[in-house]
Amino acid sequence: MAKKRVLSGMQPTGALHLGNYFGALENWVKLQAEFECFYFIADWHALTTLYEDPRLIRQNTFEVAVDWLSSGIDPEASVLFVQSQIPEHAELHLILSMIVPVPWLERNPTYKEKQTEIKNVDMSSYGFLGYPVLQTADIVLYKADFVPVGIDQLPHLELSREIVRRFNKFYRKNIFIEPAAKVSNVPKLNGIDGRKMSKSYDNAIYLSDSEKKITRKIRSMFTDPQRARREDPGDPDVCNLYPFHKIYSPEAMQKEIDADCRTAKIGCGDCKGMLVGTMLAGMRPQMEKRREIAAKPKQVYEILEEGNKKARTVAKATLDKAKAAMGL
Ligand code: TRP
Ligand code: SF4
Repeated sequence: MAKKRVLSGMQPTGALHLGNYFGALENWVKLQAEFECFYFIADWHALTTLYEDPRLIRQNTFEVAVDWLSSGIDPEASVLFVQSQIPEHAELHLILSMIVPVPWLERNPTYKEKQTEIKNVDMSSYGFLGYPVLQTADIVLYKADFVPVGIDQLPHLELSREIVRRFNKFYRKNIFIEPAAKVSNVPKLNGIDGRKMSKSYDNAIYLSDSEKKITRKIRSMFTDPQRARREDPGDPDVCNLYPFHKIYSPEAMQKEIDADCRTAKIGCGDCKGMLVGTMLAGMRPQMEKRREIAAKPKQVYEILEEGNKKARTVAKATLDKAKAAMGL
């Protein structure tokens, strides 16, 4: 039986952090064993926020590719490509835009949320309103069965299914298939200040951070807010740092910390010291791999170019069928 197909994308808005890794990338890596995977860098989507500074997108695209490769996205197993190098995405986006009623897009919760959330960029563009239409083109060109995304993307996926149904109804052919979301678990990690880990909050730990930087970030991490003094007992269950131990530290150490925190036998400084040790040890193999890959940019670009070629073939075949169904 042929493998089912998975497709997902990430915007190159910056280097990837641990929230991106545990929220998406780790899962993408695992999916490679079971599915035919297409992973792409959504650089046109990044223009919806970076249109005043589009030059950043080029550098970010490279950084994201290096983050993927060093995290275990395998170019032998999966197709890695760059959205803007496949013009079929733009062509299908235009075609789909003709059949999508604007109210469907105005109802999209992310559209409304970002208008209020993002203050420093004018998010009232035509292109941003159509974000889910471009996303639909991304998905249906590859006839993806599953799309691994976070829960925030579910309304987009629902819209994609509605657009597919509308297209197939109008042109009486099942050209596109309705994609299903594959929701990955929410990241268990917050940023160093206790809020959701995010580039825009300046609270993230990046896959590309140096050991020194990571050490400094761990040292400045918020812990149990009730634990004001060294003598106060703490509570790992409400501590912002403890989840990092859950990921990086051996279970025996976790148990010891849990007990010794509650009795104030250890202080947060001691606890951070232990995390520096286990976390750096845990991240080191990936960091080393990252350095090696980043040192050979030509190979990275070759991998993307290979992927672009494969993606183009698939995308063109689907677009040709869609246009034929419409009689264009
Ligand atoms: N909107 C996605 C995000 O911000 C990125 C994206 C663009 C995407 N096109 C896609 C994800 C297609 C999955 C499938 O995370
Ligand atoms: Fe958190 Fe560790 Fe401090 Fe306890 S000792 S509050 S687990 S940082």
